[in-house]
Amino acid sequence: MPLPKAELHLHIEGTLEPELAFALAARNGITLPYADTEALRKAYLFDDLQSFLDLYYGLMAVLLTEEDFEELADAYLARAAQQGVRHAEIFFDPQAHMVRGVGIGTVIEGLGRALERSEERHGISTRLIMCFLRDQSAESALETLEAARPHLHRIVGVGLDSAEVGHPPAKFREVYEAAAALGLRRVAHAGEEGPPAYITEALDVLGVERIDHGLRCMEDPELVERLVRERTPLTLCPLSNVRLRAIDVLEEHPLARMMDAGLLCTVNSDDPAYFGGYVDDTFHAVREALGLDQERLRELARNSFEASFLDGSPEDEAL
Ligand code: ADE
Ligand code: ZN
Repeated sequence: MPLPKAELHLHIEGTLEPELAFALAARNGITLPYADTEALRKAYLFDDLQSFLDLYYGLMAVLLTEEDFEELADAYLARAAQQGVRHAEIFFDPQAHMVRGVGIGTVIEGLGRALERSEERHGISTRLIMCFLRDQSAESALETLEAARPHLHRIVGVGLDSAEVGHPPAKFREVYEAAAALGLRRVAHAGEEGPPAYITEALDVLGVERIDHGLRCMEDPELVERLVRERTPLTLCPLSNVRLRAIDVLEEHPLARMMDAGLLCTVNSDDPAYFGGYVDDTFHAVREALGLDQERLRELARNSFEASFLDGSPEDEAL
């Protein structure tokens, strides 16, 4: 039985499995530049974040209708349930769809249809987090927030993702202020490939409550001390870090050292269709590679509920 857990760092577009991509391509009359699912899987050899993002954005071409987004989310939730996920806070990238002529309403309402049935169908409570692409302009982020206004009842918060280096958090100060004024929660990717200073900036300038990844905080002992003191959650994604070459091998992942340092760590799958595992697969992988015992794994599962946007975290009682 997998441990009950919350997943807090999951890009719904990163759950697009090759089989579903080809099925949606056929339904939507799209020809993919891969012969078959096997050829597509063979392309999943990444040098860094950008080489992954190029493929990830390209494959989104198959997502066109509300039904497509509903099916994508429902397929993730079905797999997540088998992995012990009881609560999921799900990222989506509206700008990556709007640029292809897919309306933000199609994206949010399609995802929303799957999410509103999730508790009943899969036993998973959900929240939706809208991410801004940091390699797009600040104006585009503001326009995206504006376009999302009719759908805000479906969204708990905003995030920041895509190519990190050269796109510091402060670029998005205005849109994060606007999001806060609308009552939205705030998170941001920081310290995945970017320097520890981006983590500090996300906290101080954007007012985020959680740091997505945060891996590189370990290069700055004062920052680690602050994150421990303020009990700022980090949503780590160890399999992603290996696949995107932030670290060489899982055995070198700093997760255990980060937990020893007192950081509030969670373990997540990021883009599981691309990185070789869903969240419980990730728990197993870190147990094997880092020698984490059952108590450590339970701590990670408990942390996931504490770090979530659930009130009261009743799931905590079950652990
Ligand atoms: N978008 C999807 N996955 C991402 C990641 N790991 N980092 C930044 N942006 C992303
Ligand atoms: Zn991510």
